[in-house]
Amino acid sequence: MSYLFIENANEVITVKGHSDKPAIKGAMNEIGIIKNGSVLIKDDKILAVNTTDFLKTMYQKEISESVVVDATGKVVAPGLVDPHTHLVFAGSRENEYNMRLQGASYMDIMADGGGIHATTRATRKAPFEEMYNESIRRLDKFLEHGVTTIEAKSGYGMDWDVEKRQLEVAQQLNYDHPIDIVHTFMGAHVIPQEYQEKPDDFVDLVIQEMIPKIAELGLAEFNDVFCEPGVFTPEQSRRILLAGKEHGLLPKIHADEIKPYGGAELAAEVGAVSADHLLKVSDKGLEQMAAEGVVAVLLPGTAFFLMTEVANGRRAIDAGVPVALSTDCNPGSSPSTSMPFMMNLASLKMGMTPAEAITAATINAAHAIKRGEQIGSIEVGKRADLVIWDLPNHIQFSYHYGVNHTDTVVKRGKIVYS
Ligand code: NIG
Ligand code: FE
Repeated sequence: MSYLFIENANEVITVKGHSDKPAIKGAMNEIGIIKNGSVLIKDDKILAVNTTDFLKTMYQKEISESVVVDATGKVVAPGLVDPHTHLVFAGSRENEYNMRLQGASYMDIMADGGGIHATTRATRKAPFEEMYNESIRRLDKFLEHGVTTIEAKSGYGMDWDVEKRQLEVAQQLNYDHPIDIVHTFMGAHVIPQEYQEKPDDFVDLVIQEMIPKIAELGLAEFNDVFCEPGVFTPEQSRRILLAGKEHGLLPKIHADEIKPYGGAELAAEVGAVSADHLLKVSDKGLEQMAAEGVVAVLLPGTAFFLMTEVANGRRAIDAGVPVALSTDCNPGSSPSTSMPFMMNLASLKMGMTPAEAITAATINAAHAIKRGEQIGSIEVGKRADLVIWDLPNHIQFSYHYGVNHTDTVVKRGKIVYS
């Protein structure tokens, strides 16, 4: 048995009260701030959270046995959760970045055989160790920026061996690294070049061969598809997501990013856990997502890096959709591992308050990967994943931008970064 006592924070941000369902509308702004607060951790769980005075009176014995961390003048908040990453890949695409800066478009680069195809070529060639070594460096960066759980997708293999290798790398990383990883199969990331003339054959391969094997081997929990003109149609996406469901894989979807395409409506229809991107989502799509409780995972870094309009977070929140934030970390459209920067963009570009951005990066992000009951808030009994931020109050999360304010990261009750 071991105790950790984090004492004397200016603000403890609990984000409490949403473990069963994500926060929507006005509740996204209520982040449960305790002024002059402390957190008592027993082993890997939160034992108590309250004002410093209250805990020091009520838990004298436990505190006397604790490792004590002083958070005077700082903010303590739940570990950040990134619910949408393409963590495992090989290589990088700064050449395409340079082309885009001179006017080329993301989709045109892909249509010319670059983009996702370029990373697929690099990833297909990369042995396990190379992919592992490149990805663990990214995980370290996530941790340094206060992230304690991420989702990680496959999708740069698009043949069985490489998709499997990517997911096995992610499983090994989950085992070796303090960050918890939740696994998503994304065999349907793009129609691979060898199937350009026969896209439905690739859809059949994903449905008939890959999904059943992924499920049988327990390599993933979620199944994602890039539903976009020139990639997978809504009909193909529906077949892929329903096939996943039959094998127990929960649906997720890259939806309505570049053109409105019915992706949000499809997410609601198939009961997706989340629909992600949504820059061009229709009002009807948002309404249906709200009715079904589908989480909107918004990715402002992608729009920033592709130099396009960001998704309208305010509109989604006002429509009653639970909103989460993510980096979309990937080598083409968002090579970033900084959730605090996404929170900054959410406030400056998406009409979200700093408090809403915190909710979106913690408890709602946890719900976007079905982990709302275990993580995403500082509440008694939940996993002790939290961050001490070297900031005097929560508004500075999205105010003091471009600087890493991580002071200490606690994962499952252990200090893993300081
Ligand atoms: O979410 N939209 C599809 N997939 C990624 C981009 C992947 C890449 O460009 O390598 C995304 O933006
Ligand atoms: Fe993505």
